[in-house]
Formats: sequence, C-alpha cells, structure tokens
Amino acid sequence: MAEGAFGSPVTVALTGASGAQYGLRLIEALVAANREVWVMISKAAHLVISTETEAKLPAQPERLAEALTERCGARPGQIRCFAREDWMAPVASGSGAPSAMVICPCSTGTLSAVATGASNNLIERAADVALKERRQLILVPREAPLSEIHLEHMLSLTRLGAVILPAAPGFYHQPQTVEDLIDFIVARILNQLGIEHRLMPRWGE
Ligand SMILES: Cc1cc2nc3c(=O)[nH]c(=O)nc-3n(C[C@H](O)[C@H](O)[C@H](O)COP(=O)(O)O)c2cc1C
Repeated sequence: MAEGAFGSPVTVALTGASGAQYGLRLIEALVAANREVWVMISKAAHLVISTETEAKLPAQPERLAEALTERCGARPGQIRCFAREDWMAPVASGSGAPSAMVICPCSTGTLSAVATGASNNLIERAADVALKERRQLILVPREAPLSEIHLEHMLSLTRLGAVILPAAPGFYHQPQTVEDLIDFIVARILNQLGIEHRLMPRWGE
C-alpha cells in the first residue's frame, strides 16, 4: 500500500443505544487496522456518549473529525464525519458508499427505521443504500428485553442480508475489566469485516 494510503473505508454510525464505548472502540480498532473510517453520530448518541464516557465530542462534522482523530491517534484524513442531513455525502449514494457499514451501538429506533427503509437521516439513508446495493451491513443493537417489534425488525433485516450482532458479550474469556467486555464485541465486528486484530484470541487458539 502506498505511503499515506488507507485500506478501504468502513462507515461507522453511532446511535442512541447504551454502549457508546463499543462504537468508539470500533473506530479506534479500524484506525489501528489502517482503515479509513467514515463516521456519523446521531443526536441521541451524543447524549449517550456524554452520559456514559468522558469523551467530549463536538457535533459539527469537521470539529468532530478533529476530535476523533486526536482521540484515536488517526492520521490526517483517516477519519471523516458527516452531518445528519448531509445528503451530498458519499454514503448517501450507491456510487460513493463504502462496501461495509456498522451501526454500533444501534438503537431500536434506528433498527426500526432501517428495517422499514425510512431514510429520514443520513445514518438511515446510508444503511438503506447498503441494503439496496447488497453491501455488508452490521447492526449492533442493545435493548433488554426485546419486544416483538424489535424481533420482527431483526428478522426482516437478517433476511435482507444484514448481520444482527447483539451487544451481548460472552464471559468465557474471563473478562477482568470493562474494556475486556467491550473488546469481545468489537472483535466480533472485526471478524465479520474480515479485519485482522489481536483484541482477543479466536476460539481454539
Ligand atoms: C442514556 C440513554 C440510554 C439509552 N439507551 C438505549 C438503549 O440501550 N437502547 C435503545 O434502543 N435506546 C436507548 N435510548 C433511547 C434512544 O436514544 C432514543 O430512542 C433515540 O430516539 C434514538 O435515536 P437515534 O436512533 O437517532 O440515535 C437511550 C437514551 C439515553 C439518553
């Protein structure tokens, strides 16, 4: 790979479910894997981030990209951010969208919007594009318990080719810290994306 070049971009959307740290850690891991990361953070996700973490992330896309670049130790241009209604962003069209998108964490609201094709904001539109173009779409929902509505939407999305990867870490790796639990889920996402990592050993290693 040429000096300064990044691997193919991955879209990462954080929405307002609990578990903001999964999404932030995923961005870090993708940066470490030299991928370009295109980020969208919903308004509710900003509230969850400030409730659950120490991160201070501005809403304005250029300032958000700067803050994430510093936080993740990314190289200039490695992280790009898009606003809620930036319909001119590349993720809004099949001709510009990356081959993979992860919604992590995924609120039940966004889950429902994606399952029904609402496309009322750029996150929903980008997911709709991923589905129509038969690209990789991974949703990481967190809710408990799940209603029939949530389960129906998960089933619809699975049938459409999306992957539902619940934010439900296992315990068989004997986690010692919260970071171990977060990495369990992020490792699963990276496995789905086919990206090498050392977050935790694979089964049988
Ligand atoms: C601190 C906090 C935690 C929340 N946790 C969840 C959750 O775990 N799952 C969920 O589906 N919604 C959760 N919500 C509610 C969503 O944020 C809300 O439904 C919002 O409309 C989702 O919008 P978005 O999908 O555009 O991000 C939470 C909200 C807050 C403020």
